Amino acid sequence: MSDPDRPSDVAAEGSEDGAPPHPRRTGEGRNPGDPTPREMLGRFIRVNHAGEYGAARIYAGQLAVLGHTDKRELLEHMAEQERVHLETFATMIADRGVRPTVLQPLWHVAGFALGAATALLGSRAAMACTVAVETVIDEHYRRQAEQLGEDEAPLRATIERFRAEEVEHRDIGLEHEAELAPGYRLLSEAIKAGSRAAIWLSERF
Ligand SMILES: [Fe+2]
Ligand SMILES: [Fe+2]
Repeated sequence: MSDPDRPSDVAAEGSEDGAPPHPRRTGEGRNPGDPTPREMLGRFIRVNHAGEYGAARIYAGQLAVLGHTDKRELLEHMAEQERVHLETFATMIADRGVRPTVLQPLWHVAGFALGAATALLGSRAAMACTVAVETVIDEHYRRQAEQLGEDEAPLRATIERFRAEEVEHRDIGLEHEAELAPGYRLLSEAIKAGSRAAIWLSERF
């Protein structure tokens, strides 16, 4: 078994099997003053737990408004996948002794409000919200997966599996006319900026 806290003397390099490049060991090649691998992993799991919590709340908000429409089944499908993502990271928080974000009460309210508010603008705006959030989460999970080494291969595989589902959610949004939402570009940029800010905050606090 490998110890993720042991400093590595092996330089970072890509993989030979065609998978996205990642270091042999998590945190390899970091600079002085950068977080340790253990701190990095704590941040990853904290922010992912927070993000999946927020996602579950967004879909809850959308379902509260659109639950009686023909979008119900679609929203329930995505909400169910978010529930599994959330439970997975909640288990990791407990197993690895990671401090959860102190901002959870904020994401509880903000997630639901974002979901409900966009849904009140119409189902296309709700889908635009999904597309914007999932686009940011796709980037976010991709960046994390690239930093995880062989010592964290199972976590990397989990993140890649979830990332594929987030991309599926984004594509569902696009198929359901997200881009035809009124003020799509502005709405999309605002939600992406908010999502990136939420990620930054949840990694740290
Ligand atoms: Fe998710
Ligand atoms: Fe998602």
